[in-house]
Amino acid sequence: MLIKPVCTRFFAAIAGTSRYFSVVRSMSQVNSEISGIDKTRARLLYQSKKRGILENDIILGGFAEENLAQMNEQQLKSYDELINGEHMEWDLYYYLSGKKTPPKEIMVDLNGVYETIDKERDEWIRILKESVAIESVSADPARRGEVRRMVEWTMSYLLQQGAECWLEELGQQTLHDGTKVPLPPCLLGELGKDKNKKTVLLYGHLDVQPARKEDGWNTEPFEVVESDGKLWGRGTSDDKGPVLSWIHAIKVLNQHKIEIPVNIKFCFEAMEESGSEGLKELLERKKADGWLDDVEYTCISDSYWLGTEKPCLSYGLRGICSFHVEVGGLQQDLHSGVYGGSVYEPLNDLFYLMSQLMDVNGKILIPGIMDQVANVTDLEKDAYQKIDFDVKEYRESVGAAKLPEEQKEPLLMNRWRYPSLSVHGVEGAFSDPGDKTVIPAKVIGKFSIRVVPDMQPEKINECVAKYLNDLWAKRGSGNTLKVHVQQGSVPWVHPIDHPHFQAASRAVKRVYGVDPDFIREGCSIPITLTFQELTGHSVILLPTNASDAMAHSQNEKMRTNCYIDGIKLLATYLMELGY
Ligand code: BES
Ligand code: MN
Ligand code: MN
Repeated sequence: MLIKPVCTRFFAAIAGTSRYFSVVRSMSQVNSEISGIDKTRARLLYQSKKRGILENDIILGGFAEENLAQMNEQQLKSYDELINGEHMEWDLYYYLSGKKTPPKEIMVDLNGVYETIDKERDEWIRILKESVAIESVSADPARRGEVRRMVEWTMSYLLQQGAECWLEELGQQTLHDGTKVPLPPCLLGELGKDKNKKTVLLYGHLDVQPARKEDGWNTEPFEVVESDGKLWGRGTSDDKGPVLSWIHAIKVLNQHKIEIPVNIKFCFEAMEESGSEGLKELLERKKADGWLDDVEYTCISDSYWLGTEKPCLSYGLRGICSFHVEVGGLQQDLHSGVYGGSVYEPLNDLFYLMSQLMDVNGKILIPGIMDQVANVTDLEKDAYQKIDFDVKEYRESVGAAKLPEEQKEPLLMNRWRYPSLSVHGVEGAFSDPGDKTVIPAKVIGKFSIRVVPDMQPEKINECVAKYLNDLWAKRGSGNTLKVHVQQGSVPWVHPIDHPHFQAASRAVKRVYGVDPDFIREGCSIPITLTFQELTGHSVILLPTNASDAMAHSQNEKMRTNCYIDGIKLLATYLMELGY
């Protein structure tokens, strides 16, 4: 059979490695005139064409030029298996339909892995249920035992996959009143120690935010309920679902006897929702021991897509500075009828302070904060324009009638690249239904500022303390003010044209069939920058959750398909890292 002239041109195009390619006309000619690796190349090109796989000569051209000519023997062998093997359609679809340059090497076929992941759906849900039932609320010192139990439970699941694991104790946490409570341990582990492989470190957290049914949940927060295609429960999305997905992914790759092309290190902590206390110090100790020396990639699956359908990779996080503003002065709560009018009231004082932190549109009124924000570059403006984001849909998703900013770009910038201030609540104030005519004796107002490059947390803390103390002096109350600075974290931003992002991007494409959005995040994962600094290498956020997960809020959920496909994504990412 003769190869069409257009093909001959492509043979010529790859003839950089062989003069024979320019004259190939048929298989018999291949057999008689070409030898060695070029013969394999010519055979594969010929077979691809003959089998109708490479229908489109343009794709063939791109494919041949960019890949076939450069493939080494091992890669050619893989391609041979791919086009002549069993599960070829899907893989070829991936290569041939992509507008982007395909991966340099041929990936292992993962269709069997995906099938198993789908088939074992009930088992993944069962394990998630078991983990959510452990009430690992790190903010509540009374539940430290549960937090520890969650870490131990995870360790046992990870051990079953053949990983070497251990717990690192982090010491004690000192509460405001001076009492000390033990910090939960951090789970570290390793899987694979091949000197020829790169190492990826997987980070996630096992603690969750507080939740009570009375807060307005439709179901018990610590009992996973599956309904409407979603798994409802505290921690399903943040971050138990994704952490378990890493372990499930490894389990299935092992079951299929697929060699994972990277060594894996694990760091699963349990104080993330409380500022990751103790973790930085642990990592610094591990760095000194050399434990981080070989880590070339760090991956965190603990963020969200921009919408509910399209996956994304996240390349930025804001940091956070948190404050507790304590106003006291009375010995105990007082009857407001008996004492009202004769004493300085702590809660009134607190509202005076808190109401002057920002204006109605969210502009921060504390002097010295906005001056620290890096200027927006033209490149950035361009990137925001490209993002697919529907403001109306967003407004409706939060149930708001009006937003302070309704233009796509500035709205997204307000979420991701400008600071914001939020007031969270007041400890000590009456908050139950009905009336209680009381003057609370001591109240603690809580607020935080999300920080961005180039803001310096120490400077922010100083500005806040000065502003509150100046206001306090103006107020002239007889009560006492204490400003407590909580554990904070710094922002993180990463360049997106990095091979790590390309590998993750390929994994997304393989599993979901689309290229991911590249987004920043308004939230914080306190330890992110520490990983980047201590390893000297790249960190990526690879979310598996849709934007409607409602983490930290009532009725947190993970969409069941996000959970299942997430396992596929994380497995694929591990495989793509090897290429
Ligand atoms: N998973 C979140 C962070 C997150 C949320 C990243 C959404 C990207 C998108 C994390 O568990 C979290 O809640 N972090 C806290 C940290 C804080 C308590 C120090 C946060 O951002 O409020
Ligand atoms: Mn989280
Ligand atoms: Mn969280």
